Amino acid sequence: MSTIEFPSASWKNYALLDSGAGEKLERFGDYVLARPEPRALWDKSLPEEEWSRLVHTRFAPGAGLGRAGKEDSGTWKRRRKMPDRWWIRYETDGAGPAFDLRLGLTAFKHVGVFPEQAPNWEYIYRHTKALVNKARQERAPVPRVLNLFAYTGAASLAAKAAGADVTHLDSLRQVVTWAHENQERSGLDGIRWIVEDAMKFARREARRGNTYQGIILDPPAYGHGPNGERWKLDELLFDMMKTIAAILTPSDNFLILNLYSNGYSALQGETIVKEAFGLQAVPSGLESGELALLDSFGKALPLSIFVRMFRS
Ligand SMILES: C[S@@+](CC[C@H](N)C(=O)[O-])C[C@H]1O[C@@H](n2cnc3c(N)ncnc32)[C@H](O)[C@@H]1O
Repeated sequence: MSTIEFPSASWKNYALLDSGAGEKLERFGDYVLARPEPRALWDKSLPEEEWSRLVHTRFAPGAGLGRAGKEDSGTWKRRRKMPDRWWIRYETDGAGPAFDLRLGLTAFKHVGVFPEQAPNWEYIYRHTKALVNKARQERAPVPRVLNLFAYTGAASLAAKAAGADVTHLDSLRQVVTWAHENQERSGLDGIRWIVEDAMKFARREARRGNTYQGIILDPPAYGHGPNGERWKLDELLFDMMKTIAAILTPSDNFLILNLYSNGYSALQGETIVKEAFGLQAVPSGLESGELALLDSFGKALPLSIFVRMFRS
């Protein structure tokens, strides 16, 4: 069954103020940013002058930056005083996780967090907690959670806050260092940091017979391992998921596959997981859907799809 999920309105440090005309206007803590959003194929609700009045900085896509930079490269144009780096806290009224994230204006329009992912953080926290509690009762080892393509680590922090033994992997050393800062500021410690190609690592873990009770992955359309290994979603995703099936424990587990590129549908993601895991029917713990943001005028902006599965 496909569902649509949004971050909780009680997360006070983030808001999508408006969207439209290929842009989004967002508040991260005290600062308002405008950046390109190719999926916002409708009119803005606020007049252009209001965007200009509210915004601290606006991302201007660069021209002629070559193929890799075509979509995302550019520069931030400051309109009002703001720092290059600042912190926001993820916290809601619910029983979910709380952690701190450093934000920064990067050359690729990203700021260090994908706010639409908040429902995944809640799922990770809830399921990890259940596994940790069960392991405690049974005097079993602390559950291991693996986060691949882990970026600045919000999902890793959610799993760590719930008490898991967390492995965080990304191919870029700078983002792993960034995730480490987030861990420290959040008052957490003990995450295992790995700078490696995700596919290479997963295959090695499968060969060694190492398993994890929770696996999270959010792969991009294209990417590179630290030694030039090429990641191409269309070509490697199914192989990756078959490898994941080998390193996820057969029971007492959870999986999150998040996809935000190539226009994959939730059903496509679901079929990929079902086939990779050799599932005959859709089990009750399998769900898929879309992650979206709701702007303050009620316009829903879909940003990624997810497939989640848990087995007890
Ligand atoms: C958009 S991010 C994922 C976002 C993240 N899950 C979150 O919500 O914060 C994709 C990440 O994949 C990493 N990446 C790209 N190719 C990779 C590869 N071959 N192996 C490991 N990580 C890779 C990038 O460095 C980037 O941090």
